[in-house]
Amino acid sequence: MENEKKKRILSGIQPTGIFTLGNYIGAIRNWEKMQEEFECAYFIADLHSLTVRQEPAKLRKQVLEAYALLLACGIDPKKSLVFIQSHVHAHTELSWILSGLTQFGELSRMTQFKDKSAKHADNVNAGLFTYPVLMAADILLYQADFVPVGADQKQHLEFTRDLAERFNSRYSPTFTVPDAYISESGARVMSLQDPTKKMSKSDENPNGFVSILDTPDVIMSKFKRAVTDSDTEVVYKEGKDGINNLMSIYSILAGKTIEETEAEFAGKGYGDFKMAVGEVVVESLRPIREEFDRLKGEKAYLEEMYTEGAKIATSISNRTLSKVKRKVGLI
Ligand code: TRP
Repeated sequence: MENEKKKRILSGIQPTGIFTLGNYIGAIRNWEKMQEEFECAYFIADLHSLTVRQEPAKLRKQVLEAYALLLACGIDPKKSLVFIQSHVHAHTELSWILSGLTQFGELSRMTQFKDKSAKHADNVNAGLFTYPVLMAADILLYQADFVPVGADQKQHLEFTRDLAERFNSRYSPTFTVPDAYISESGARVMSLQDPTKKMSKSDENPNGFVSILDTPDVIMSKFKRAVTDSDTEVVYKEGKDGINNLMSIYSILAGKTIEETEAEFAGKGYGDFKMAVGEVVVESLRPIREEFDRLKGEKAYLEEMYTEGAKIATSISNRTLSKVKRKVGLI
């Protein structure tokens, strides 16, 4: 084992808004765990955020907060490469080169592009269209073996694989073709108000999502109000979307199986169960919120960490970029 080269994992997250319990359970918590087994690179995708209109001062603050949040969630810059996308020039440079290998038709078929252009009909910009090309560059520069992504990013990863194979066969083997990484506990956390929809930080109803920095009182009140059903039993089954969602949150954070959770709450009502879910969430997020509050005051430390991250990321990505430039015929 010792001599075996660790596989590389890479993933990015946009800095728009404080992460939700959904981001935590579905992504960041797993990123944290993968740090031992894999060589990990995680970054704040600030350039991707520019495809939607942003207020500069607010974006600046959010990028720094997102970076601090990753560290507060246990992403350790001594174990993993943690950086800010815009600090590493190779991303946009490779993105341009790859866009010459990308067809208009492929990008037009991206469902996220279609969804986002419907949502921001007054700002269907070129960046929104070429978003997947930048994402492909992010991944391919680091020769990642695996990319943990949610269902909404699967199509972009598929596109990244196509581009990698296209480049490798047109020139010569250059890029690792990345696989999606599906973790065992990659549960999709649903909205507490409409459990048929994914929990989202852009939900207009703040009771629909839990932010990982919400205070204990706020968390408890959101769980108390969580939408359930007219049944009374805490059991996991079809049609009980609200209860199923609460059960999966509980079982993941309490480290129990769904069966154990059913047994634990047999004969108890929804009220007790919701309180128990709220409490386990409060206790899981407490250390994160405390660490975030501490880190917020450590501006110099944060700057030192992301500067160092950028240096390492630049050196890794430049290696790939210079090969690419040579292969495509740039002097
Ligand atoms: N598009 C991803 C999202 O919104 C963020 C992202 C950007 C990303 N570049 C990436 C994720 C590279 C994985 C790998 O969720």
